[in-house]
Amino acid sequence: MYVNVAVLKETLRHERRVALMPSVVPKLIKLGAKLHMQSGAGAAIKLVDAAYKDVAIIADRNVLVADADVVLAVQPPALEVIDAMKPGAILISFIYAGHQPALVKRLLERKITCFAMEMLPRITRAQSMDALSSQSALAGYYAVQLGATHLGRVLPKITTAAGAIGPAKVLVMGLGVAGLEALATAHRLGAVTEGYDVRPETQEQALSLGATFVETGVDATGKGGYARELTPDEKTKVAAALTKHIQAADLIITTAAIPGRPSPKLISKPQVAGMKAGAVIVDLSAEGGGNCEDTRPGETAVVGQVTIVAPLNVPSLLGEDASELYSKNQYNLLLLMMKDNIITIDWKDEILAKTVLTHDGQLKNQAAAPHANPGTGDTSPTARPVAKVA
Ligand SMILES: NC(=O)c1ccc[n+]([C@@H]2O[C@H](COP(=O)([O-])OP(=O)(O)OC[C@H]3O[C@@H](n4cnc5c(N)ncnc54)[C@H](O)[C@@H]3O)[C@@H](O)[C@H]2O)c1
Repeated sequence: MYVNVAVLKETLRHERRVALMPSVVPKLIKLGAKLHMQSGAGAAIKLVDAAYKDVAIIADRNVLVADADVVLAVQPPALEVIDAMKPGAILISFIYAGHQPALVKRLLERKITCFAMEMLPRITRAQSMDALSSQSALAGYYAVQLGATHLGRVLPKITTAAGAIGPAKVLVMGLGVAGLEALATAHRLGAVTEGYDVRPETQEQALSLGATFVETGVDATGKGGYARELTPDEKTKVAAALTKHIQAADLIITTAAIPGRPSPKLISKPQVAGMKAGAVIVDLSAEGGGNCEDTRPGETAVVGQVTIVAPLNVPSLLGEDASELYSKNQYNLLLLMMKDNIITIDWKDEILAKTVLTHDGQLKNQAAAPHANPGTGDTSPTARPVAKVA
């Protein structure tokens, strides 16, 4: 007995990640998996099929998934993949169901048991499976690199015979997983760092990373550790407190997000106009519309003397490491359901019960009901924007 596991090649434009890395292959085989992978699945990160020892390579996607007990992917798969899967099979990938009504309908019709990676509860026991966190950490790191390459100055203090230059001032707005990683990275590179968030608990976290914290006197802690939207009065209060910090910064990295809502606007057009000449904003919230009024999602825009970089699907830009962590996240989730060469799902397990989206023709998470889009009042963490790639 063994569990047939199939790994898809991603088809979304510019998606470089792959759901299985060679380092995870022996671990899955030890669990009782028989592995199959679509040919070229690792090509975008220069992994040839031959790098996957003990994995059967299959060219035809429909043939690949037809006998699979478990299908692994990064992005929500095409409807044709679901049609080719056998009823009762398991799909594990990011789904962002609020944006995928047709996919959810098909998962229900085909009786696929679907676990949506973005629905994993943010609890301590689930940390090793938390792909939102692993991918966000990489995005936070990369935002600093992107910002540094667009700046006409260095981040650390450098002393030369002609005199000293630097350090640059870096302001990070939104101190979730990505923001804290950005603060840590900028600090390591020698910048003077400042952090800001509407959840006061982040102050201590920022200080522990060598940064100062911008206090605005507004607490917008929402449900489940996430932030809530600010009231108009709070927005005015915050903007007044932030302006001088925005205008003193050489590099600003924004990561602010509110589950199920468009990205909050933290930097207004007048604030951009008042920024230092040559300053750079890296907006990691471009997928939700961006944290700056001048952000153009997927583009690098020069607005006055300021460069605003707003990349989409940032983890994919670090495809190799992002795949390594994502593959381990999925393996750790599979550990909960694969034992002695068979799949056994314990629905009393909080992680599995909360991560499942569809099972046996039933929608298991109402937050994922079709048309649950940002801006429609769905405030669940599961209703985040899907990673759209330019
Ligand atoms: N226990 C765990 O295992 C675990 C793992 C990962 C994350 N978490 C928690 O989950 C929560 C969400 O983390 P995330 O990285 O997904 O965050 P996120 O992507 O939802 O949001 C990023 C940050 O933006 C902030 N934000 C929202 N509106 C803002 C505004 N107007 N101005 C400034 N900042 C604003 C949020 O407070 C958050 O810190 C955090 O509390 C985090 O600590 C827990």
